[in-house]
Amino acid sequence: MFDYKVSVLALLLGASVHAGESVDVLHWWTSASERGAARFLQNRLADEKIDWRDAAIPGGGGVGAMRVLKSRVLAGKQPAVAQLIGPAIAEWADLGLILELDSVAKANDWNHVLSPTIRQLLIHREHFVAAPLGLHRINNLYYNVKLFRKLGLAEPKTMDDLKRAALRLSAAGITPMGQSSEAWQVATLFESLVLMEGGPAFYRDVFVKRNASAYLDSRFGRALSRLRQLRSYTNKSAREQPWSEVAQQLSNGQVGMVVMGDWFKGELLSMGQKLDVDFACASVPNTQQYHLYSIDSFVMFTGDYSQQDAQEKMAQILVSPAVQQGYNRIKGSVPVRRDLDAKAMSSLDRCATSSWQTFNKGKSVQAPSLVHRMAADEKFKDAIVAQVQKFYLDESISVQDNQQRMAAMVRALNAQEGNIE
Ligand code: BGC
Repeated sequence: MFDYKVSVLALLLGASVHAGESVDVLHWWTSASERGAARFLQNRLADEKIDWRDAAIPGGGGVGAMRVLKSRVLAGKQPAVAQLIGPAIAEWADLGLILELDSVAKANDWNHVLSPTIRQLLIHREHFVAAPLGLHRINNLYYNVKLFRKLGLAEPKTMDDLKRAALRLSAAGITPMGQSSEAWQVATLFESLVLMEGGPAFYRDVFVKRNASAYLDSRFGRALSRLRQLRSYTNKSAREQPWSEVAQQLSNGQVGMVVMGDWFKGELLSMGQKLDVDFACASVPNTQQYHLYSIDSFVMFTGDYSQQDAQEKMAQILVSPAVQQGYNRIKGSVPVRRDLDAKAMSSLDRCATSSWQTFNKGKSVQAPSLVHRMAADEKFKDAIVAQVQKFYLDESISVQDNQQRMAAMVRALNAQEGNIE
């Protein structure tokens, strides 16, 4: 019902957010640390009278959340805010469904505080259409410090070191590597191996430029062989476990090492594990100088524009220095801002410092995560991820055969897009 008094009051208050404005937030943060990070945001927004109504969809890597988002939009029930990242943002923005955030960006100087790589992910047709949350690094190797100490093992820097550690762990009756067989988790490991074998330029040829001949290259073949090698250090009958269960296994010493994005560090910390006492972070061998990245962001759906004030206020809060620091510490990621002062820098742990400093060296060391939606559209990503998992699980497929299959698949996908080489 139209409430005349409330409307007059709202007019008098100008553009301020209505008391207790509710926004639906669709995301895929359901592990303990992810929920903790979301709760942190929820509380900060509550301080500003914005009520975050949680619509969390389980499923690491966001596979389920993207499906739910599509069906909600088709049913005309889009959330006010959704976790949407990478090139998919442009697809939704093209449909005219996403709120432009230029006034927030201008008032808060996003053009300067965000690096070009981050900005480019948030801008569509020269408008800011998403608010960034955190910068994740994917090429991390976590290991159980107590096990390594007990067995006299040093941090693996090369694949030979990693092999030595794996053999020692195995001889001590411990599964060397924790690894779920879930498709996105296998492919998350694989993309680090492509970076390891080829460096960022080759990585981009494979996953961004979709150059079919790169799939036939010996570097791609070596990455596939490495995947098989690493599988031999895992429990081969591992089921499709959630990644947070793998974190439990590392923390209780059931497995010695795990390759995963740094949300894994957030999860270990949320379990009370201490960095460099219980677990440590290293880079995937030979990728120390590179940053395989994924940047989380939220988009705001336009709907009837009735929530625009709250949405804009939320975007501003998410990127503010204090929220960036608090949220990213829980989440395991690092602030998206490149203007961290000495105090903010000193609050980062050594894994976070290394991630932030490496990323901010610029594009030549950066590689956009395919699996975590930075490199390609959903269709291409899903096809590659599925084939990598197939190869991983079925050892009767030879490396060479798989290279041929993937090259043919990429050619077909490119042809469908009218992107024929
Ligand atoms: C997201 C992270 C999330 C992880 C596991 C990634 O794609 O960027 O925020 O923690 O998936 O669900």
